[in-house]
Amino acid sequence: MATENKIKRRAFLEKSALGVGGLILSTVLVGSCTDHRGPEPNDPNQQGSFDYGVASFDPTDNQIILWTRVTPANGASRITLTYQLATDAAFGTVVKTEMIDASADDDFTVSVDISGLTSNTRYYYKFTITNTAVASVTGETKTLPRGEESGEVKLAVCSCSNYPYGLFNVYGAMANSEADVIVHLGDYIYEYAPGQYGTNPSTAALGRAHQPAKEIIDLADYRTRYKQYRSDPQLQLAHQKKPFICVWDDHEVANDAYKDGAQNHNPGEGDFSTRKANALKAYHEYIGIRTPVDTKIYRTFTFGSILNLHMLDTRLIGRDKQLAYGTYFNNAGQLDTAAFGQAWLDPKRTLLGSEQLGWLGGALNAGQATWQVLGQQVLMGKMYVPAELLVSISQIVAQVDAQGSVSPALFASFQTLLVALTQIKARSLANDPTLTVGELARIRTVLPYNLDAWDGYPAEREAVYALAKGKRLVALSGDTHNGWFSDLTTSDGTRAGEEIATPSVTSPGFEAYLGLNQATLSAFESALALLIDDLKYLDASRRGYTLVNFSTGRIQSEWRYVPTITTPTVSTTVGHTETIIA
Ligand SMILES: [Fe+2]
Repeated sequence: MATENKIKRRAFLEKSALGVGGLILSTVLVGSCTDHRGPEPNDPNQQGSFDYGVASFDPTDNQIILWTRVTPANGASRITLTYQLATDAAFGTVVKTEMIDASADDDFTVSVDISGLTSNTRYYYKFTITNTAVASVTGETKTLPRGEESGEVKLAVCSCSNYPYGLFNVYGAMANSEADVIVHLGDYIYEYAPGQYGTNPSTAALGRAHQPAKEIIDLADYRTRYKQYRSDPQLQLAHQKKPFICVWDDHEVANDAYKDGAQNHNPGEGDFSTRKANALKAYHEYIGIRTPVDTKIYRTFTFGSILNLHMLDTRLIGRDKQLAYGTYFNNAGQLDTAAFGQAWLDPKRTLLGSEQLGWLGGALNAGQATWQVLGQQVLMGKMYVPAELLVSISQIVAQVDAQGSVSPALFASFQTLLVALTQIKARSLANDPTLTVGELARIRTVLPYNLDAWDGYPAEREAVYALAKGKRLVALSGDTHNGWFSDLTTSDGTRAGEEIATPSVTSPGFEAYLGLNQATLSAFESALALLIDDLKYLDASRRGYTLVNFSTGRIQSEWRYVPTITTPTVSTTVGHTETIIA
Protein backbone atom coordinates (compact mmCIF):
# COMPACT_ATOMS: atom_id res chain seq x y z
CA MET A 1 0.00 0.00 0.00
CA ALA A 2 1.09 3.56 -0.47
CA THR A 3 2.75 5.32 2.38
CA GLU A 4 -0.18 7.61 3.00
CA ASN A 5 -2.50 4.66 3.35
CA LYS A 6 -0.12 3.12 5.82
CA ILE A 7 0.10 6.39 7.64
CA LYS A 8 -3.66 6.64 7.94
CA ARG A 9 -3.67 3.21 9.52
CA ARG A 10 -0.69 3.59 11.75
CA ALA A 11 -1.21 3.83 15.47
CA PHE A 12 -0.50 7.27 16.81
CA LEU A 13 0.16 6.17 20.33
CA GLU A 14 2.04 9.13 21.63
CA LYS A 15 2.03 12.78 20.80
CA SER A 16 4.97 14.94 21.52
CA ALA A 17 5.74 18.61 21.32
CA LEU A 18 9.29 19.17 22.33
CA GLY A 19 10.27 22.78 22.85
CA VAL A 20 13.82 23.97 22.29
CA GLY A 21 14.66 27.57 23.12
CA GLY A 22 10.99 28.28 23.59
CA LEU A 23 10.15 27.15 20.04
CA ILE A 24 7.65 24.36 19.52
CA LEU A 25 9.35 22.13 16.97
CA SER A 26 6.77 19.43 16.69
CA THR A 27 3.17 20.25 16.10
CA VAL A 28 0.38 18.09 17.47
CA LEU A 29 0.01 14.99 15.37
CA VAL A 30 -3.43 14.07 14.12
CA GLY A 31 -4.09 10.43 13.39
CA SER A 32 -7.22 9.17 11.71
CA CYS A 33 -6.84 5.56 12.69
CA THR A 34 -8.74 3.80 15.41
CA ASP A 35 -6.06 1.27 16.36
CA HIS A 36 -4.49 2.94 19.37
CA ARG A 37 -3.26 -0.09 21.24
CA GLY A 38 0.12 0.33 22.83
CA PRO A 39 2.37 -2.44 24.05
CA GLU A 40 1.45 -4.12 27.29
CA PRO A 41 4.39 -3.66 29.66
CA ASN A 42 6.58 -6.77 29.68
CA ASP A 43 4.54 -8.33 26.84
CA PRO A 44 6.75 -11.28 25.76
CA ASN A 45 5.48 -10.90 22.20
CA GLN A 46 6.99 -7.43 21.89
CA GLN A 47 10.46 -8.68 21.05
CA GLY A 48 12.49 -8.61 17.88
CA SER A 49 15.50 -7.19 16.07
CA PHE A 50 16.31 -4.74 13.29
CA ASP A 51 17.99 -6.88 10.63
CA TYR A 52 17.40 -4.69 7.58
CA GLY A 53 18.73 -1.33 8.75
CA VAL A 54 16.86 1.93 8.29
CA ALA A 55 16.05 4.08 5.30
CA SER A 56 14.61 7.44 4.33
CA PHE A 57 12.70 8.33 1.19
CA ASP A 58 11.06 11.15 -0.76
CA PRO A 59 12.59 14.21 0.92
CA THR A 60 10.96 17.57 0.29
CA ASP A 61 11.84 20.93 1.83
CA ASN A 62 9.76 20.01 4.91
CA GLN A 63 9.01 16.25 4.78
CA ILE A 64 10.78 12.92 4.89
CA ILE A 65 9.61 9.30 5.02
CA LEU A 66 11.45 7.13 7.56
CA TRP A 67 11.51 3.34 7.13
CA THR A 68 12.53 0.24 8.98
CA ARG A 69 11.60 -3.41 9.36
CA VAL A 70 11.56 -5.34 12.61
CA THR A 71 12.05 -9.10 12.69
CA PRO A 72 9.61 -10.49 15.27
CA ALA A 73 11.26 -12.88 17.73
CA ASN A 74 8.41 -15.18 18.64
CA GLY A 75 5.50 -15.14 16.28
CA ALA A 76 4.06 -11.77 17.27
CA SER A 77 1.53 -10.26 14.88
CA ARG A 78 2.28 -6.71 16.07
CA ILE A 79 5.28 -4.97 17.60
CA THR A 80 5.22 -1.38 18.83
CA LEU A 81 8.21 0.74 17.84
CA THR A 82 9.26 4.25 18.83
CA TYR A 83 11.14 6.44 16.39
CA GLN A 84 13.19 9.51 17.19
CA LEU A 85 14.23 12.22 14.73
CA ALA A 86 16.92 14.66 15.86
CA THR A 87 19.18 17.36 14.48
CA ASP A 88 22.25 15.75 16.03
CA ALA A 89 23.70 12.24 15.95
CA ALA A 90 23.70 12.04 19.76
CA PHE A 91 19.91 12.69 19.82
CA GLY A 92 20.38 15.67 22.14
CA THR A 93 17.81 17.67 20.18
CA VAL A 94 14.92 15.38 19.30
CA VAL A 95 12.39 17.17 17.12
CA LYS A 96 9.92 14.31 16.58
CA THR A 97 9.18 11.10 18.43
CA GLU A 98 6.14 8.87 18.47
CA MET A 99 5.13 5.23 18.64
CA ILE A 100 4.09 3.23 15.60
CA ASP A 101 3.02 -0.38 15.16
CA ALA A 102 4.81 -2.82 12.87
CA SER A 103 2.45 -5.62 11.89
CA ALA A 104 2.28 -8.76 9.81
CA ASP A 105 -0.11 -6.91 7.44
CA ASP A 106 2.89 -5.04 6.03
CA ASP A 107 5.54 -7.73 6.62
CA PHE A 108 6.62 -5.82 9.76
CA THR A 109 7.82 -2.85 7.71
CA VAL A 110 6.91 0.67 8.78
CA SER A 111 6.99 3.92 6.80
CA VAL A 112 6.43 7.15 8.69
CA ASP A 113 5.89 10.37 6.73
CA ILE A 114 7.08 13.27 8.85
CA SER A 115 6.28 16.88 8.00
CA GLY A 116 6.99 20.29 9.50
CA LEU A 117 10.76 19.94 9.11
CA THR A 118 13.32 22.63 8.28
CA SER A 119 14.59 22.89 4.72
CA ASN A 120 18.17 22.05 3.69
CA THR A 121 18.84 20.43 7.08
CA ARG A 122 20.54 17.20 8.07
CA TYR A 123 18.58 14.94 10.44
CA TYR A 124 19.39 11.76 12.35
CA TYR A 125 16.87 9.07 13.23
CA LYS A 126 16.52 5.65 14.81
CA PHE A 127 13.83 3.20 15.83
CA THR A 128 13.57 1.23 19.07
CA ILE A 129 11.32 -1.62 20.13
CA THR A 130 9.30 0.21 22.74
CA ASN A 131 9.20 -2.52 25.37
CA THR A 132 12.76 -3.82 25.11
CA ALA A 133 14.66 -0.66 24.04
CA VAL A 134 16.44 -2.71 21.35
CA ALA A 135 17.55 -0.01 18.89
CA SER A 136 18.19 0.17 15.17
CA VAL A 137 21.28 1.75 13.67
CA THR A 138 21.15 5.54 13.37
CA GLY A 139 20.16 6.82 9.96
CA GLU A 140 21.10 10.15 8.37
CA THR A 141 18.94 12.13 5.99
CA LYS A 142 18.52 15.62 4.63
CA THR A 143 15.65 17.84 3.56
CA LEU A 144 15.73 19.62 0.21
CA PRO A 145 16.72 23.27 -0.17
CA ARG A 146 14.13 25.99 -0.57
CA GLY A 147 14.56 29.00 -2.90
CA GLU A 148 18.19 30.13 -3.15
CA GLU A 149 19.22 28.30 0.02
CA SER A 150 21.73 26.05 -1.73
CA GLY A 151 24.05 26.82 -4.64
CA GLU A 152 24.19 23.25 -5.88
CA VAL A 153 22.41 19.90 -5.70
CA LYS A 154 24.19 16.56 -6.12
CA LEU A 155 22.21 13.51 -7.21
CA ALA A 156 23.71 10.02 -7.35
CA VAL A 157 21.71 8.28 -10.07
CA CYS A 158 21.61 4.48 -10.35
CA SER A 159 19.56 1.56 -11.65
CA CYS A 160 19.54 -2.18 -12.19
CA SER A 161 20.83 -3.85 -9.04
CA ASN A 162 20.79 -7.61 -9.58
CA TYR A 163 21.77 -9.34 -6.31
CA PRO A 164 22.87 -12.72 -7.74
CA TYR A 165 24.98 -11.05 -10.43
CA GLY A 166 27.53 -9.52 -8.07
CA LEU A 167 28.41 -7.40 -5.07
CA PHE A 168 26.64 -4.10 -4.47
CA ASN A 169 29.90 -2.10 -4.47
CA VAL A 170 28.15 0.70 -6.33
CA TYR A 171 25.73 1.15 -3.42
CA GLY A 172 28.71 1.31 -1.06
CA ALA A 173 30.35 3.91 -3.29
CA MET A 174 27.20 6.05 -3.36
CA ALA A 175 26.90 5.78 0.45
CA ASN A 176 30.40 7.21 0.72
CA SER A 177 29.88 9.86 -1.96
CA GLU A 178 29.08 13.55 -1.58
CA ALA A 179 25.56 13.00 -3.03
CA ASP A 180 22.62 14.72 -1.32
CA VAL A 181 20.09 12.20 -2.63
CA ILE A 182 20.27 8.80 -4.36
CA VAL A 183 17.86 8.53 -7.29
CA HIS A 184 17.04 4.91 -8.19
CA LEU A 185 15.51 4.54 -11.65
CA GLY A 186 14.27 0.99 -11.25
CA ASP A 187 15.15 -2.70 -11.40
CA TYR A 188 15.78 -2.47 -7.67
CA ILE A 189 15.09 -6.23 -7.58
CA TYR A 190 14.89 -8.89 -10.31
CA GLU A 191 12.19 -11.53 -10.44
CA TYR A 192 14.09 -14.51 -11.90
CA ALA A 193 14.68 -18.05 -10.67
CA PRO A 194 18.05 -19.71 -9.97
CA GLY A 195 19.81 -20.58 -13.21
CA GLN A 196 18.04 -17.79 -15.06
CA TYR A 197 19.18 -14.20 -15.68
CA GLY A 198 21.53 -13.00 -12.97
CA THR A 199 23.09 -16.37 -12.27
CA ASN A 200 26.79 -16.38 -13.13
CA PRO A 201 29.93 -18.25 -12.01
CA SER A 202 30.31 -15.94 -8.98
CA THR A 203 26.75 -16.27 -7.68
CA ALA A 204 27.26 -19.32 -5.47
CA ALA A 205 30.79 -18.40 -4.41
CA LEU A 206 29.58 -15.00 -3.24
CA GLY A 207 26.62 -16.55 -1.39
CA ARG A 208 24.16 -14.63 -3.55
CA ALA A 209 21.89 -17.42 -4.85
CA HIS A 210 18.29 -16.36 -5.47
CA GLN A 211 15.90 -16.32 -2.50
CA PRO A 212 13.32 -17.68 -2.72
CA ALA A 213 14.81 -20.34 -5.03
CA LYS A 214 12.13 -19.77 -7.68
CA GLU A 215 10.72 -17.06 -9.90
CA ILE A 216 8.81 -14.68 -7.64
CA ILE A 217 5.05 -14.66 -8.23
CA ASP A 218 3.08 -14.33 -5.00
CA LEU A 219 3.29 -11.80 -2.19
CA ALA A 220 5.46 -13.99 0.06
CA ASP A 221 7.91 -14.48 -2.84
CA TYR A 222 8.30 -10.76 -3.50
CA ARG A 223 8.71 -10.04 0.22
CA THR A 224 11.41 -12.71 0.54
CA ARG A 225 13.26 -11.26 -2.45
CA TYR A 226 13.18 -7.73 -0.99
CA LYS A 227 14.49 -9.07 2.32
CA GLN A 228 17.34 -10.82 0.52
CA TYR A 229 18.34 -7.62 -1.27
CA ARG A 230 17.97 -5.51 1.87
CA SER A 231 20.17 -7.93 3.82
CA ASP A 232 23.10 -6.63 1.74
CA PRO A 233 25.39 -4.48 3.94
CA GLN A 234 26.29 -2.03 1.16
CA LEU A 235 22.67 -1.44 0.19
CA GLN A 236 21.82 -1.02 3.88
CA LEU A 237 24.62 1.53 4.21
CA ALA A 238 23.39 3.51 1.19
CA HIS A 239 19.90 3.66 2.69
CA GLN A 240 21.28 4.53 6.13
CA LYS A 241 23.38 7.43 4.83
CA LYS A 242 21.26 9.01 2.05
CA PRO A 243 17.60 9.62 1.28
CA PHE A 244 16.38 7.73 -1.80
CA ILE A 245 13.92 8.83 -4.48
CA CYS A 246 12.75 5.75 -6.40
CA VAL A 247 10.62 4.62 -9.30
CA TRP A 248 10.05 1.05 -10.39
CA ASP A 249 10.97 -0.36 -13.80
CA ASP A 250 9.89 -3.74 -15.17
CA HIS A 251 11.76 -6.23 -12.97
CA GLU A 252 10.01 -5.10 -9.80
CA VAL A 253 7.13 -7.05 -11.40
CA ALA A 254 8.45 -9.07 -14.40
CA ASN A 255 10.70 -8.53 -17.44
CA ASP A 256 9.48 -6.11 -20.13
CA ALA A 257 6.27 -5.37 -18.27
CA TYR A 258 3.59 -3.12 -19.72
CA LYS A 259 0.27 -2.03 -18.28
CA ASP A 260 -1.46 -5.41 -18.55
CA GLY A 261 1.24 -7.99 -19.17
CA ALA A 262 4.95 -8.76 -19.33
CA GLN A 263 7.35 -10.76 -21.49
CA ASN A 264 8.27 -12.86 -18.45
CA HIS A 265 4.72 -13.69 -17.40
CA ASN A 266 2.76 -16.61 -18.78
CA PRO A 267 -0.73 -17.92 -18.05
CA GLY A 268 0.68 -20.77 -15.95
CA GLU A 269 1.85 -18.14 -13.50
CA GLY A 270 -1.72 -16.98 -12.86
CA ASP A 271 -3.47 -13.71 -13.48
CA PHE A 272 -1.05 -10.87 -14.32
CA SER A 273 -3.07 -8.28 -12.41
CA THR A 274 -2.82 -10.44 -9.26
CA ARG A 275 0.94 -10.79 -9.69
CA LYS A 276 1.27 -7.05 -10.29
CA ALA A 277 -0.74 -6.29 -7.14
CA ASN A 278 1.50 -8.64 -5.13
CA ALA A 279 4.63 -7.02 -6.56
CA LEU A 280 3.43 -3.49 -5.90
CA LYS A 281 2.28 -4.25 -2.36
CA ALA A 282 5.74 -5.60 -1.50
CA TYR A 283 7.35 -2.64 -3.32
CA HIS A 284 5.44 -0.16 -1.21
CA GLU A 285 6.30 -2.09 1.94
CA TYR A 286 10.03 -1.85 1.26
CA ILE A 287 10.30 1.43 -0.71
CA GLY A 288 8.84 4.65 0.67
CA ILE A 289 6.85 6.63 -1.90
CA ARG A 290 4.56 9.53 -1.10
CA THR A 291 1.72 8.97 -3.53
CA PRO A 292 -2.01 9.27 -3.10
CA VAL A 293 -2.75 6.06 -5.01
CA ASP A 294 -0.63 2.92 -4.90
CA THR A 295 -0.29 2.52 -8.64
CA LYS A 296 0.47 6.18 -9.40
CA ILE A 297 4.06 6.92 -8.46
CA TYR A 298 4.70 9.87 -10.76
CA ARG A 299 5.54 12.93 -8.67
CA THR A 300 7.68 16.09 -8.61
CA PHE A 301 10.47 17.15 -6.24
CA THR A 302 11.62 20.77 -6.07
CA PHE A 303 15.26 21.47 -5.19
CA GLY A 304 14.98 25.23 -4.59
CA SER A 305 15.48 27.32 -7.70
CA ILE A 306 17.89 24.77 -9.21
CA LEU A 307 15.79 21.88 -10.46
CA ASN A 308 12.36 20.33 -10.58
CA LEU A 309 12.71 16.55 -10.68
CA HIS A 310 9.70 14.86 -12.30
CA MET A 311 9.73 11.13 -11.51
CA LEU A 312 7.82 9.15 -14.14
CA ASP A 313 6.31 5.69 -14.52
CA THR A 314 7.03 4.64 -18.11
CA ARG A 315 6.35 1.02 -17.26
CA LEU A 316 3.13 0.02 -15.54
CA ILE A 317 0.54 2.79 -15.46
CA GLY A 318 0.01 3.51 -19.15
CA ARG A 319 2.41 1.59 -21.39
CA ASP A 320 1.02 -0.13 -24.48
CA LYS A 321 2.59 -3.50 -25.30
CA GLN A 322 5.98 -3.21 -26.98
CA LEU A 323 6.27 -3.76 -30.71
CA ALA A 324 8.50 -6.64 -31.85
CA TYR A 325 10.39 -6.70 -35.16
CA GLY A 326 9.74 -10.43 -35.39
CA THR A 327 6.07 -9.86 -36.14
CA TYR A 328 6.85 -7.65 -39.18
CA PHE A 329 8.92 -10.03 -41.26
CA ASN A 330 7.26 -11.19 -44.47
CA ASN A 331 7.47 -14.65 -46.04
CA ALA A 332 10.64 -13.67 -47.86
CA GLY A 333 12.33 -12.98 -44.52
CA GLN A 334 12.38 -9.22 -45.05
CA LEU A 335 11.09 -6.56 -42.70
CA ASP A 336 7.76 -5.19 -43.92
CA THR A 337 8.82 -1.60 -43.35
CA ALA A 338 5.45 -0.14 -44.33
CA ALA A 339 3.52 -2.23 -41.83
CA PHE A 340 6.14 -1.71 -39.15
CA GLY A 341 6.25 2.03 -39.79
CA GLN A 342 2.50 2.35 -39.56
CA ALA A 343 2.39 0.64 -36.17
CA TRP A 344 5.54 2.36 -34.89
CA LEU A 345 4.39 5.87 -35.74
CA ASP A 346 0.82 5.36 -34.52
CA PRO A 347 0.08 8.56 -32.55
CA LYS A 348 -2.09 6.59 -30.12
CA ARG A 349 0.81 4.44 -28.88
CA THR A 350 1.56 5.50 -25.34
CA LEU A 351 4.28 4.96 -22.75
CA LEU A 352 2.99 7.31 -20.04
CA GLY A 353 -0.75 7.15 -20.67
CA SER A 354 -2.88 10.22 -21.23
CA GLU A 355 -3.46 10.96 -17.55
CA GLN A 356 0.26 10.96 -16.67
CA LEU A 357 1.13 12.90 -19.83
CA GLY A 358 -1.42 15.54 -18.87
CA TRP A 359 0.01 15.68 -15.36
CA LEU A 360 3.55 16.03 -16.76
CA GLY A 361 2.47 18.93 -18.96
CA GLY A 362 1.13 20.73 -15.91
CA ALA A 363 4.20 19.92 -13.84
CA LEU A 364 6.61 21.16 -16.54
CA ASN A 365 4.54 24.28 -17.00
CA ALA A 366 4.50 24.96 -13.27
CA GLY A 367 8.19 24.18 -12.81
CA GLN A 368 9.96 27.41 -11.88
CA ALA A 369 13.47 26.02 -11.38
CA THR A 370 16.25 26.34 -13.97
CA TRP A 371 16.32 22.65 -14.89
CA GLN A 372 13.29 20.49 -15.68
CA VAL A 373 14.58 16.99 -15.06
CA LEU A 374 12.80 13.73 -15.92
CA GLY A 375 13.75 10.86 -13.58
CA GLN A 376 12.63 7.83 -15.54
CA GLN A 377 13.45 4.34 -16.66
CA VAL A 378 14.15 3.85 -20.36
CA LEU A 379 16.45 5.59 -22.87
CA MET A 380 14.83 8.68 -24.35
CA GLY A 381 17.39 9.63 -27.03
CA LYS A 382 17.01 8.40 -30.58
CA MET A 383 19.14 5.27 -30.95
CA TYR A 384 18.59 4.73 -34.65
CA VAL A 385 21.23 2.34 -35.98
CA PRO A 386 21.90 1.09 -39.52
CA ALA A 387 19.46 -1.74 -40.20
CA GLU A 388 22.24 -4.18 -41.13
CA LEU A 389 23.95 -3.57 -37.80
CA LEU A 390 20.69 -4.10 -35.92
CA VAL A 391 20.28 -7.47 -37.64
CA SER A 392 23.86 -8.44 -36.79
CA ILE A 393 23.49 -7.44 -33.12
CA SER A 394 20.20 -9.35 -32.93
CA GLN A 395 21.91 -12.48 -34.25
CA ILE A 396 24.66 -12.20 -31.62
CA VAL A 397 22.15 -11.65 -28.82
CA ALA A 398 20.08 -14.63 -29.96
CA GLN A 399 23.14 -16.89 -30.18
CA VAL A 400 24.50 -15.86 -26.76
CA ASP A 401 21.08 -16.27 -25.18
CA ALA A 402 20.66 -19.72 -26.77
CA GLN A 403 24.21 -21.12 -26.54
CA GLY A 404 25.98 -18.96 -23.97
CA SER A 405 28.52 -17.57 -26.44
CA VAL A 406 28.86 -16.24 -29.97
CA SER A 407 30.54 -18.23 -32.74
CA PRO A 408 33.86 -16.83 -34.05
CA ALA A 409 32.43 -16.62 -37.58
CA LEU A 410 29.41 -14.55 -36.55
CA PHE A 411 31.56 -12.29 -34.41
CA ALA A 412 34.05 -11.76 -37.23
CA SER A 413 31.26 -10.77 -39.62
CA PHE A 414 29.92 -8.32 -37.02
CA GLN A 415 33.35 -6.70 -36.68
CA THR A 416 33.78 -6.47 -40.44
CA LEU A 417 30.37 -4.84 -40.72
CA LEU A 418 31.19 -2.36 -37.96
CA VAL A 419 34.37 -1.29 -39.75
CA ALA A 420 32.62 -0.96 -43.10
CA LEU A 421 29.75 1.13 -41.73
CA THR A 422 31.97 3.46 -39.69
CA GLN A 423 34.19 4.04 -42.72
CA ILE A 424 31.18 5.03 -44.82
CA LYS A 425 29.86 7.27 -42.03
CA ALA A 426 33.26 8.97 -41.64
CA ARG A 427 33.43 9.60 -45.40
CA SER A 428 29.88 10.95 -45.32
CA LEU A 429 30.73 13.37 -42.50
CA ALA A 430 33.75 14.49 -44.57
CA ASN A 431 31.46 15.05 -47.59
CA ASP A 432 33.37 12.52 -49.69
CA PRO A 433 32.06 13.02 -53.27
CA THR A 434 32.93 9.45 -54.25
CA LEU A 435 30.30 7.92 -51.93
CA THR A 436 27.81 5.87 -53.90
CA VAL A 437 24.05 5.89 -53.48
CA GLY A 438 24.30 2.31 -52.26
CA GLU A 439 26.89 3.20 -49.63
CA LEU A 440 24.84 6.12 -48.35
CA ALA A 441 21.77 3.89 -48.15
CA ARG A 442 23.67 1.54 -45.84
CA ILE A 443 24.09 4.25 -43.18
CA ARG A 444 20.82 6.05 -43.83
CA THR A 445 18.58 2.98 -43.61
CA VAL A 446 18.20 3.08 -39.86
CA LEU A 447 15.90 1.44 -37.32
CA PRO A 448 15.36 2.03 -33.60
CA TYR A 449 17.61 -0.28 -31.60
CA ASN A 450 15.31 -0.87 -28.60
CA LEU A 451 11.52 -0.94 -29.03
CA ASP A 452 11.06 -1.26 -25.24
CA ALA A 453 12.53 2.27 -24.82
CA TRP A 454 11.12 5.66 -25.89
CA ASP A 455 12.28 4.70 -29.40
CA GLY A 456 9.28 2.37 -29.54
CA TYR A 457 6.89 5.23 -28.75
CA PRO A 458 8.13 8.11 -30.93
CA ALA A 459 4.84 10.04 -31.13
CA GLU A 460 4.56 10.37 -27.38
CA ARG A 461 8.24 11.36 -27.16
CA GLU A 462 7.47 14.24 -29.51
CA ALA A 463 4.54 15.17 -27.27
CA VAL A 464 6.82 15.34 -24.21
CA TYR A 465 9.33 17.51 -26.09
CA ALA A 466 6.50 19.83 -27.11
CA LEU A 467 5.33 20.13 -23.48
CA ALA A 468 8.90 21.00 -22.41
CA LYS A 469 9.44 23.57 -25.17
CA GLY A 470 11.15 26.68 -23.81
CA LYS A 471 12.39 24.81 -20.71
CA ARG A 472 15.86 23.36 -20.03
CA LEU A 473 14.98 19.67 -20.26
CA VAL A 474 17.30 16.90 -19.03
CA ALA A 475 16.38 13.22 -18.86
CA LEU A 476 17.92 10.84 -16.32
CA SER A 477 17.58 7.26 -17.56
CA GLY A 478 18.39 3.71 -16.44
CA ASP A 479 17.39 0.27 -17.78
CA THR A 480 20.23 -0.41 -20.23
CA HIS A 481 23.03 -1.35 -17.78
CA ASN A 482 25.39 0.89 -19.77
CA GLY A 483 26.48 4.52 -19.44
CA TRP A 484 25.33 6.96 -22.14
CA PHE A 485 25.17 10.67 -22.90
CA SER A 486 22.99 11.92 -25.76
CA ASP A 487 21.38 14.98 -27.20
CA LEU A 488 17.60 14.87 -27.16
CA THR A 489 16.23 16.03 -30.51
CA THR A 490 12.78 16.14 -32.05
CA SER A 491 11.90 14.25 -35.22
CA ASP A 492 12.92 17.26 -37.30
CA GLY A 493 16.27 17.49 -35.52
CA THR A 494 15.49 20.43 -33.23
CA ARG A 495 17.37 20.23 -29.96
CA ALA A 496 15.08 19.42 -27.01
CA GLY A 497 17.60 18.75 -24.21
CA GLU A 498 20.15 16.22 -23.01
CA GLU A 499 20.04 12.69 -21.62
CA ILE A 500 22.27 11.35 -18.85
CA ALA A 501 21.89 7.56 -18.67
CA THR A 502 23.37 5.66 -15.77
CA PRO A 503 25.14 2.30 -15.86
CA SER A 504 23.87 -0.54 -13.68
CA VAL A 505 24.80 -1.40 -10.11
CA THR A 506 25.55 -5.01 -11.15
CA SER A 507 23.49 -6.16 -14.17
CA PRO A 508 25.62 -6.99 -17.22
CA GLY A 509 25.92 -4.62 -20.17
CA PHE A 510 26.98 -5.13 -23.77
CA GLU A 511 30.08 -7.02 -22.60
CA ALA A 512 27.81 -10.00 -21.90
CA TYR A 513 27.45 -10.28 -25.70
CA LEU A 514 30.71 -8.77 -26.95
CA GLY A 515 33.15 -10.24 -24.43
CA LEU A 516 35.65 -8.36 -22.31
CA ASN A 517 38.32 -7.66 -24.94
CA GLN A 518 39.01 -3.95 -24.44
CA ALA A 519 39.87 -3.30 -28.10
CA THR A 520 36.57 -4.83 -29.24
CA LEU A 521 34.58 -2.88 -26.65
CA SER A 522 36.29 0.41 -27.51
CA ALA A 523 35.70 -0.14 -31.22
CA PHE A 524 32.02 -0.85 -30.54
CA GLU A 525 31.65 2.24 -28.32
CA SER A 526 33.20 4.59 -30.84
CA ALA A 527 31.35 2.99 -33.74
CA LEU A 528 27.97 3.51 -32.09
CA ALA A 529 28.85 7.09 -31.11
CA LEU A 530 29.77 7.75 -34.73
CA LEU A 531 26.84 5.94 -36.35
CA ILE A 532 24.13 7.27 -33.99
CA ASP A 533 23.83 10.99 -34.60
CA ASP A 534 22.59 12.07 -31.17
CA LEU A 535 24.84 9.75 -29.13
CA LYS A 536 27.91 11.46 -27.64
CA TYR A 537 29.21 8.88 -25.18
CA LEU A 538 28.79 5.18 -24.46
CA ASP A 539 30.44 2.89 -21.94
CA ALA A 540 29.60 -0.67 -22.93
CA SER A 541 31.07 -2.70 -20.09
CA ARG A 542 31.43 -1.11 -16.66
CA ARG A 543 29.23 -0.99 -13.53
CA GLY A 544 28.73 2.24 -11.65
CA TYR A 545 26.54 5.27 -11.11
CA THR A 546 26.29 8.85 -12.29
CA LEU A 547 26.99 11.76 -9.98
CA VAL A 548 25.07 14.72 -11.39
CA ASN A 549 25.89 18.10 -9.86
CA PHE A 550 23.29 20.76 -10.65
CA SER A 551 23.55 24.52 -10.21
CA THR A 552 21.53 27.27 -11.85
CA GLY A 553 24.37 27.93 -14.32
CA ARG A 554 25.37 24.41 -15.34
CA ILE A 555 25.22 20.66 -14.82
CA GLN A 556 28.39 18.66 -14.29
CA SER A 557 27.88 14.94 -14.69
CA GLU A 558 30.42 12.25 -13.85
CA TRP A 559 30.08 8.61 -14.87
CA ARG A 560 31.76 6.79 -11.98
CA TYR A 561 32.74 3.14 -12.28
CA VAL A 562 33.74 0.49 -9.76
CA PRO A 563 36.71 -1.74 -10.73
CA THR A 564 34.95 -5.01 -9.85
CA ILE A 565 31.76 -6.54 -8.49
CA THR A 566 33.38 -9.80 -7.36
CA THR A 567 35.47 -8.45 -4.45
CA PRO A 568 34.29 -5.77 -2.00
CA THR A 569 35.39 -2.19 -2.71
CA VAL A 570 33.85 1.27 -2.60
CA SER A 571 36.46 2.93 -4.82
CA THR A 572 35.44 4.39 -8.16
CA THR A 573 37.12 6.01 -11.13
CA VAL A 574 35.59 8.75 -13.24
CA GLY A 575 35.17 7.31 -16.70
CA HIS A 576 33.65 10.37 -18.33
CA THR A 577 32.45 13.89 -17.54
CA GLU A 578 30.02 16.21 -19.29
CA THR A 579 29.21 19.84 -18.60
CA ILE A 580 25.83 21.20 -19.72
CA ILE A 581 25.41 24.95 -19.71
CA ALA A 582 22.01 26.39 -18.78
FE1 LIG B 1 17.86 -3.88 -15.59
